Amino acid sequence: MTEEMIGRLNEQMTLEFSSGYLYLGFAARLESLALPGAAHWYRVQAEEELRHGMRLFEYLIRLSAEPMPGPVPAPRDIPEDFAGIADAGLRHERFITASIEGILFYAIGENDLQTQQFLQWFIGEQVEEEANARGIIDALNRADGCKAGLMLLDEKMGGREG
Ligand code: FEO
Repeated sequence: MTEEMIGRLNEQMTLEFSSGYLYLGFAARLESLALPGAAHWYRVQAEEELRHGMRLFEYLIRLSAEPMPGPVPAPRDIPEDFAGIADAGLRHERFITASIEGILFYAIGENDLQTQQFLQWFIGEQVEEEANARGIIDALNRADGCKAGLMLLDEKMGGREG
């Protein structure tokens, strides 16, 4: 495995941890907005992101490369309302998908079959992540500002299991 590849995998690991931190920021804002179910959903998502980061951590160790967790910035520009948060979540997941694809294309160029296979899991996971993010936006659009609809969505999101 090249140094460049190790660097890219380390960067992705840090990005996954940063994603968790961003979603914690979303959860905090949603608690402030009195939407505890949606806040719970993003808390669970934050934990999932930590697991994504750990997959990369363990993969690097398996290949005898040292994982180097980078700085995780404080979540910034958290939107003021739920709709803005939902949009930001989808934009973020698209950014993560593009990042994973970038590493995969690099692995293909390097004939690094192991890493290509390792990244396939993330490619499938990103399909799900983007679908979940779009699902929240769609549900909010269906509620169309109706308080009862929003409460129902909040309750449903509160049932997410870790
Ligand atoms: Fe780990 Fe939400 O991508």
